[in-house]
Amino acid sequence: MIQKAVDLIKNAGRVTAFTGAGISVESGIPPFRGENGLWNKYDPTFLNINYFHSNPLGSWKLIKEIFYDFFGEATPNKAHYGLAEMEKAGYLDAIITQNIDNLHQKSGSREIFEFHGNSRNLICVDCGKKYPVAEIGLDNLPPECMNCGAVLKPDFIFFGEAIPEPARTNSFREAEISDLFILIGTTGEVMPASSIPFLAKENGAKIIEININKSSYTERITDIFLQGKAAEMTFSLVKELLEHS
Ligand code: APR
Repeated sequence: MIQKAVDLIKNAGRVTAFTGAGISVESGIPPFRGENGLWNKYDPTFLNINYFHSNPLGSWKLIKEIFYDFFGEATPNKAHYGLAEMEKAGYLDAIITQNIDNLHQKSGSREIFEFHGNSRNLICVDCGKKYPVAEIGLDNLPPECMNCGAVLKPDFIFFGEAIPEPARTNSFREAEISDLFILIGTTGEVMPASSIPFLAKENGAKIIEININKSSYTERITDIFLQGKAAEMTFSLVKELLEHS
């Protein structure tokens, strides 16, 4: 199967990776769903935009605990580094990620579309000014805008918020023009992100999927299913690709 996947990659014109929480599990970041999923422990209401506006402190306490105190120290794993190597060798053109953990950037990838935004910056809910979270610090919650005094929120999208531009436009364009999508660690259950691989398939793209379990894609659009952990499987795929390039 790995060899078949390598052949697909070599024969593809444009290749895009589409990643979800599963690619970062081996970096110590739990997924949202499935075994050890965050939504098994926390009620996602705190990430609803209306809840945030009505209870910024309550929301921020959980946001800080989960996305900054706990995730903040995570480092990329072999899957992230494998994609960065693929890009450097000219076999990967872009990554669309649903993740906000910044691990694709940390591993050296360059063309990255953050479909759900990122946790690196905070943004003012009133004037829209952005600050690196490192500059603001999260000792006093909720953090306040130095420009207008309003509350700052993380620059990732909450449930009920629109997908950020230009990531949205760039991601849907990949679904129009790519010949091959490599799906890594995503359930395919959250719209509108989850529609992108289906759109790519409709436009003639081949689909390689890496996941420890089957997803909403596997039986419907996946051409090659590499069942296993993202770190090992992506590393094996890239190793086979680069050793025989
Ligand atoms: N290796 C590969 N795949 C894994 C691994 C692993 N080590 N661990 C878990 N997975 C797979 C699971 O089988 C599942 O398909 O990763 C996926 C994790 O599912 P989710 O947590 O739902 O992640 P994702 O699909 O990215 O969620 C989409 O939902 O809550 C929102 O905005 C949030 O971006 C997130 C979106």
